[in-house]
Amino acid sequence: MKVNDVATYEVEGAVAVVTLNSPPVNALSAAVRQGIAGGLKMALEDDAVRAMLLICEGRTFFAGADITEFGKPPVEPVLRDVQLMLENATKPVIAAIHGTALGGGLEIALTAHYRIAVPSAKCGLPEVNLGLLPGAGGTQRLPRIVGIAKALDLITSGKPVSAKAAKKMGLVDELATEGNLRADALTFANRVIDENRPLLKVRDRTDKLSEARGKPDIFADFRKAHARKFRGYKAPESIIRCIEATLEKPFDEGLAFEATLFRELQAGSQSAAQRHIFFAERQAAKIDGIPADTPILPIRKVGVIGAGTMGGGIAMSFANAGIPVTLVDSSEDALFRGLRVIRGNYEATARKGRMKAEDVDARMGILTGSVSMEDLSDCDLIIEAVFELMEIKKEVFAKLDGIAKPDAILATNTSYLDIDEIGSATSRPASVIGLHFFSPAHIMKLLEIVRGKNTRADIIATSMKLAKTLGKVGVLVGNAYGFVGNRILAARDAQANRLILEGATPEAVDKVLYDFGFPMGHFQMRDLAGLDVGWNREKSSSSTVREILNEMGRHGQKTVGGFYDYDENRNRTPSPVAQKVIEDFAAKQGIAHREIGEAEIRDRILYAMVNEGAKLLDEGIASRASDIDVVWVTGYGWPQYEGGPMFWADLQGLPQVLEKLKSLQDEYSDAFAPSPLIERLVSEGKGFRDA
Ligand code: 3HC
Ligand code: NAI
Repeated sequence: MKVNDVATYEVEGAVAVVTLNSPPVNALSAAVRQGIAGGLKMALEDDAVRAMLLICEGRTFFAGADITEFGKPPVEPVLRDVQLMLENATKPVIAAIHGTALGGGLEIALTAHYRIAVPSAKCGLPEVNLGLLPGAGGTQRLPRIVGIAKALDLITSGKPVSAKAAKKMGLVDELATEGNLRADALTFANRVIDENRPLLKVRDRTDKLSEARGKPDIFADFRKAHARKFRGYKAPESIIRCIEATLEKPFDEGLAFEATLFRELQAGSQSAAQRHIFFAERQAAKIDGIPADTPILPIRKVGVIGAGTMGGGIAMSFANAGIPVTLVDSSEDALFRGLRVIRGNYEATARKGRMKAEDVDARMGILTGSVSMEDLSDCDLIIEAVFELMEIKKEVFAKLDGIAKPDAILATNTSYLDIDEIGSATSRPASVIGLHFFSPAHIMKLLEIVRGKNTRADIIATSMKLAKTLGKVGVLVGNAYGFVGNRILAARDAQANRLILEGATPEAVDKVLYDFGFPMGHFQMRDLAGLDVGWNREKSSSSTVREILNEMGRHGQKTVGGFYDYDENRNRTPSPVAQKVIEDFAAKQGIAHREIGEAEIRDRILYAMVNEGAKLLDEGIASRASDIDVVWVTGYGWPQYEGGPMFWADLQGLPQVLEKLKSLQDEYSDAFAPSPLIERLVSEGKGFRDA
């Protein structure tokens, strides 16, 4: 029988089964909440029913509150009312979980009297990733089941746990057989009835809280241990305060406290920014002009050319996804060094307990080394990651053309070079694409996918799908110098370089960016990446500070000196040597030294980046402002809680951004001449979000 459009009600013996089906992820929309409440009411009124099963159809149990409803007027019944009805039901309610019970979804399950899950299910409270805290009792109920220490970890990390781990923690009462949830849950419900089991309410439990009362430092220690990770974010501290409240306040007061802090976070700009990024990442996967039914090519075997920093990381990404890789380098030395680094990385991960020791050999087992490109003839995808020089790349692609099978995808990891020119070295430019990974490639989430003018639709669609397979976020961009990410980086670099010539120190510039929320400053990042990346010794002519530092052998961290000095442990100190280079160079250029404040550094750097982003949008190199945000948040450490450069600009208000750019142009340089797109959007009363 239908309860409403998304819920059905059936009775099996003494058990009412309320099934929700609201694709794609059964988010707790108004209709879903009404369906649950309606189903429960029917079960309570039905005398033949002695227990109720709450179960979902489709790929998952409730994946959380419906984020698209945030900011809109609430529709009854609100989630907390539904939970109250479930928890206070006079007949036992059993939640049957598959897929992901996340956020409000898990919080609903926590108000059921019993929980059963299939082994593949995952349970978690990921609200922190959206700049929120679990606002439907999660901070009050979870600690009562799993204890304070585990709850702190689970809720501030947002990471889900497997059903098996959940069972161990007591979060799930019973494991069902995979694929047999409904039947097993019915059996379990009948057992609850037959054994006359009590109506267990998580809210009434105190045993786990008592355990924590003997450990007064638990919260202070947790804050200290995670200070770096939580820096700048508001939600983790609010979560900790709510969990503290479980020890200090009765349940209902704790719940009210949680609601207050939830509303504060929900109304704040950090959560808006993080929700923007959540949807932006998903939006990036949708591409105009490439129909959803475009064929996806199978990627069963991959070749990577160049066993250096990037080639090694790229090979690890594939091995981690279980896809066999052949790694080729031109010299045996470089190949063996590359393979050693990969093994070393895996072993270090295993030592830290983040990977099983036996998996090291398994990953290395699907990774083959070779010094012959001929060994790539059976690969479905070949990614080139050799030196960043056009002549060498063209040579590699010309050779590859004669080796790769006809339907192989030929990709380059170039940071800046023209994909079409690289493709022109082959007889099949339609098969050539840019797959721009970020360092370290096995960790960074971003994959910039660069389409050439000839790149075929199925190659693009396959590359987008590949990003997901590798656990990355794919963003499709156009073919222009530096694509999207590095072109904005170049705009930042230009201002940073100019600022140090005018009198700001590298430390001062870096401090402003660090305080804004970047994990490191601009010059720290340059030193880490290596100042010699893309530097050509033969063509170097002392024409920039970077060239001079390189000519002096100061290539960054790896050479104990770049913009900073480093000791053998890579500890950083300001460099008198680099400072002298900067000052001498500025004097030679006739640039006067002056005091530069933090506000000027911040404005010049951030507005230059926003302006460059606008130009990329206007030129069609980026297809959406939100794509640019995803690139900078996932690839370059723009703080997630600031939502990316274009979101940040929208938040300032585009008219203000335009004014600021004009005044920066008047005061400093034509580099700030506003992009015509900004002028246009302002005149139409729009923001980047509407572009
Ligand atoms: N609300 C609204 N829409 C949601 C949603 C949610 N909670 N979760 C996912 N969606 C949408 C996505 O936007 C996407 O829409 P699209 O197809 O139009 O782009 C669609 O569902 C499918 O999502 P994915 O592409 O992410 O699908 P996957 O299968 O890769 O992942 C998932 C599924 C693991 C459930 C993932 O979507 C996810 O992590 N969702 C968010 C979970 C979450 O954060 N829940 C907490 C919400 S806040 C909350 O509950 C507050 C409470 O404490 C009061
Ligand atoms: P690297 O210098 O660490 O490695 C290059 C490797 O290619 C070396 O092992 C070298 O022996 C090998 N090689 C050179 N010519 C070859 C050939 N003809 N055939 C086979 N192997 C050859 O360089 P890195 O940093 O890994 O960069 C590789 C590419 O990735 C470049 O195009 C670079 O612009 C790009 N890139 C680099 C990033 C970084 O942070 N280092 C980030 C993103 C892209």
